[in-house]
Amino acid sequence: MTDEEKRRWKGPTGKEGSSGRQTGERKIHAHRAKSDSSKKWLERQLADPYVRKAKDAGFRARAAYKLLEIDTKLGLLKQGQRIVDLGCAPGGWLQVAVAKGAREVVGIDLLPVDPVEGAHIVQGDVNEPADVARMMAGLTAKPDLVLSDMAANTTGHRQTDHLRTVALVELAVGFAIEHLSPGGAFCSKVFQGGATKDVLESLKAHFTTVKHIKPPASRAGSPEIFVVAKGFKG
Ligand SMILES: C[S@@+](CC[C@H](N)C(=O)[O-])C[C@H]1O[C@@H](n2cnc3c(N)ncnc32)[C@H](O)[C@@H]1O
Repeated sequence: MTDEEKRRWKGPTGKEGSSGRQTGERKIHAHRAKSDSSKKWLERQLADPYVRKAKDAGFRARAAYKLLEIDTKLGLLKQGQRIVDLGCAPGGWLQVAVAKGAREVVGIDLLPVDPVEGAHIVQGDVNEPADVARMMAGLTAKPDLVLSDMAANTTGHRQTDHLRTVALVELAVGFAIEHLSPGGAFCSKVFQGGATKDVLESLKAHFTTVKHIKPPASRAGSPEIFVVAKGFKG
């Protein structure tokens, strides 16, 4: 290759700036960005009182405190309930539900979840009727409470992430309306200013009360809030 050819060569992919050296540099940059964000995550975890509190109390996730705080404010969990937990990994909410004296607790997640004594856990997708049926087999009657803390992996593309989140909330609402027993309650993570207009209208049509809540355990910088609907009309 002549010097001129070398200068013009666009690398193995044929794209401008994709020579081996630059690809390597980009990799290092990506690696640094990733290790910077891992470092930030670790620093945040170490400084977070809820992480320590959860560890000391034996909860698998600090998320357990979000449910406990929502319960303290709005009174969701009662002895003897049948509870469904959508998106239950690693199991913090399941642990709370069992500890609060539920009669039956079932949960589902795309990810594997270590067993929680007193809970029937299924690895599967809430979009898949067969997976949902396997989970519901753990209940002897309709649930009194449907919880959803489902969250999709973020892509970094705002619109895509927003649409994926809205789809999960709609999925959870649809599930609750299909399965809840009359008088039952629903609690779901929602993002960006609360439930969308359609979701809110649907909840208001099917439940007597609908409220939004941001529990203190939910990080101030996080766009997540929760919607709680009570008094399912059946
Ligand atoms: C924030 S975590 C839940 C934490 C849980 N509440 C706890 O206390 O341990 C959200 C979960 O939703 C799950 N998820 C997202 N989409 C799902 C789907 N379509 N079906 C089942 N689980 C889903 C993810 O795999 C993830 O584990």
